[in-house]
Amino acid sequence: MKIVMLGAPGAGKGTQAKMIAAKYGIPHISTGDIFRANIKNGTELGEKAKQYMDQGLLVPDELTLALIMDRFAKDDCANGYVLDGFPRTIAQAEALTESLKAQNDALDMAIDVDVPDEDIIERMGGRRACVACGGTFHVLFNPPRVSGKCDLCGGELSIRKDDLPETVKKRLMVYHEQTQPLIDYYKAEGILRTVDGTKDVNEVFAEITALFE
Ligand code: AP5
Repeated sequence: MKIVMLGAPGAGKGTQAKMIAAKYGIPHISTGDIFRANIKNGTELGEKAKQYMDQGLLVPDELTLALIMDRFAKDDCANGYVLDGFPRTIAQAEALTESLKAQNDALDMAIDVDVPDEDIIERMGGRRACVACGGTFHVLFNPPRVSGKCDLCGGELSIRKDDLPETVKKRLMVYHEQTQPLIDYYKAEGILRTVDGTKDVNEVFAEITALFE
């Protein structure tokens, strides 16, 4: 099962991708998480990516593609994966299609988690992310059991630097310009499905699992 999650920043792609990965036993691959891990570990890639991420801009395609192709080569991808935050440009989508085609393979589904911009701004203000494992929570809509602590690993929860309101507005602008065109791209490929991301987390997940049945 090879799935791409589409949607604006904060639409809930990561939340749903983690649930899909757990239910179907496939890896959740988030380019954002990989970049953040590199920033935390002070790698050269992390330093380069940080310059773009802190401004709400996309990391250049050549950096992102090198990183993701390397990740696909790992053994755990043999039975598929759920991609979260990749592809994000038409060039990235074309590179993915071509690399799968070269192995006589293709994506099964692209799921667009649809949420209007107004809801996004509210969600980002309340998001808390685990500094240790990347687990994602929301102070109102998806609170951790113990305030400030990750349910999954007990790590500290913090506000992501790119969740500041001005950066969120920039990320939304970049999304509409560069990533939203992927909806038409995957519609033309015949694999686009859309779910209503304004519903409760579990209701969205039920809509998604119904797509696989
Ligand atoms: P990335 O980490 O991918 O960020 P994003 O796409 O902006 O998405 P988010 O992680 O912010 O949101 P999400 O949709 O996963 O929502 P979440 O589930 O957390 O990328 C960060 C940066 O890295 C980019 O800006 C770019 O610079 C760079 N980058 C990454 N990939 C790249 C690529 N391919 N090319 C170039 N650059 C790249 O949910 C949000 C909040 O809402 C949470 O608090 C959650 O608990 C809550 N929530 C979730 N679902 C619901 C619900 N149904 N109802 C209410 N609240 C909900």
